[in-house]
Amino acid sequence: MVGFSKKTMRDVPLRYKTVLVRADYNVPLRDDGTIADDSRIRASLPTIRALLKDSCKIVIISHLGRPDGKPDEKYSLEPAAKRLAELLERDVRFVSECVGPKARMAIKRAPKVGIVMLENLRFHPEEEANDAEFAEQLAHDSGAQYFIQDGFGVVHRAHTSTSAITMYLPSIAGLLLEREVTTISETMHHPKRPLLAILGGAKVSDKIQVIEKIVAVADQIIVGGAMANTFLAAQGKQLGKSKMESDQGQVIGEIYAAVHQKVGEKYVDNFLVLPSDVVVANDIDSTDTRVVSVNEIPDDTMALDIGPASQHRMTEAIKRAQTVLWNGTLGFAERPAFAGGSAAAAQALKDNTETILIVGGGDTTDFVINWDEHHGDSFTHVSTGGGASLDLIAGNKLPGVEALLDG
Ligand code: 3PG
Repeated sequence: MVGFSKKTMRDVPLRYKTVLVRADYNVPLRDDGTIADDSRIRASLPTIRALLKDSCKIVIISHLGRPDGKPDEKYSLEPAAKRLAELLERDVRFVSECVGPKARMAIKRAPKVGIVMLENLRFHPEEEANDAEFAEQLAHDSGAQYFIQDGFGVVHRAHTSTSAITMYLPSIAGLLLEREVTTISETMHHPKRPLLAILGGAKVSDKIQVIEKIVAVADQIIVGGAMANTFLAAQGKQLGKSKMESDQGQVIGEIYAAVHQKVGEKYVDNFLVLPSDVVVANDIDSTDTRVVSVNEIPDDTMALDIGPASQHRMTEAIKRAQTVLWNGTLGFAERPAFAGGSAAAAQALKDNTETILIVGGGDTTDFVINWDEHHGDSFTHVSTGGGASLDLIAGNKLPGVEALLDG
C-alpha cells in the first residue's frame, strides 16, 4: 500500500475551528448559466459533511473557468453555492468577494457551525500569480485556523490557493484529495494485473510523459481516437482527411522503441494495439457513416471512431483485465454517431465488476459521467482531476500536495 505522506483531516484537532477549504468547483456550465455536471460538487461532500460533524465554520474557496483576473458574472460561483446548499439541504452563504471587508464581515456573522462560499478566486490576477500578499489576505480575512486542500483537480497548478496560502495557515489534505492521490498512486505502484490502458483523445504530444509511464506499467495498451490516427500515419497508412499530428513521427518511434524493449519484437503489436477498422464520414457533422479497414480509408473521409472489430478486441481485453486505466475517448464522442467505441468501453467496464477502473482526463470523465447518468454509479474511480490525474499518473509532483504539512 502506498501511504499518503501528508497530514490529513484526521491528524489535527478541527473541532469548533474555522477552516478555509479549497475545493475545485470548476464545473461545466450550460449556455443559460446552470450547472451541466455537478460531480465535482458531489465529490466534495464527504469533506464538508465531516467538517460539519466536527462543528466547524467552513469557508470555501474555488475558481471557475478562466476569467483572466477580472470579475465576470458568467464565471460567478453563486450557482455552485446554490447547488451545494441543495445537496446538503442546508444554508450556504454566498459572498460576492473573496477578500476584503465584505468577505470578512460575512464570515464573522456566519453561524459558528455553517458554510460560507466566497466568489471566484480568479477574479483577482494574484490568484494565478501565486502571490504571497493575496495569500496572506485570504488567510487573514477568512479568520481560519487551518487550510484544507480538497481541490484535487487544481493541485497541479502552483497558484495562491494551492501554494502560497500554505505559508500562512497550517495546511492539510481533505478527504477527496487524499482518496484521489492514494487510489491513483496505489494503482500505478501496485496494480492488480493484467493492467490494460485505453488511450484516446486528440493528441500524442500532450500526453507523451503519461504514455511513457503507461508503457512501463501496463500489460497491454489499446489506442483509439485521433491519437490512433497519429500512430497509424506513422506506420505509413493513408488516412484521408483524418485528424492527426503529422509531426510526431519521432515521438512515436521512441514509444515503439520502449515497447520493443519491454516485450520483444514478436509481441509489439499485441502490446500496443491500434484499431484495425474505423468509422468514417466526410466530416464531423455527417451522419452518413461507413465502416472501413484502416488500410482503405477513402481520401475524402475522416476516421471518427473505432470500428466493430476493434471494439470487439477491446471489450475482450477489458474482460480479462483486473485494472483498467482509461484516458481519452476513442472517437469524436461528442457526436452520438461517433461515440460507439467509447460507449462499448464503458459498457464492458460496467459489466466487468471485478476491474479496478481509473478514469482520468477531462473528456473521458465527462463522457463516462454523462453515459453513467443513465447506467447508475458503476465505476470504481472516476477522477475529478483532468490535468492533475495525468500528472499523477506520469509520476510528477503536484505543487498543491507538496505544499501541505508532512504527515
Ligand atoms: C480543471 O478543470 O482541470 C481544473 O479545475 C484546473 O483548471 P485550469 O486548467 O483552468 O487551471
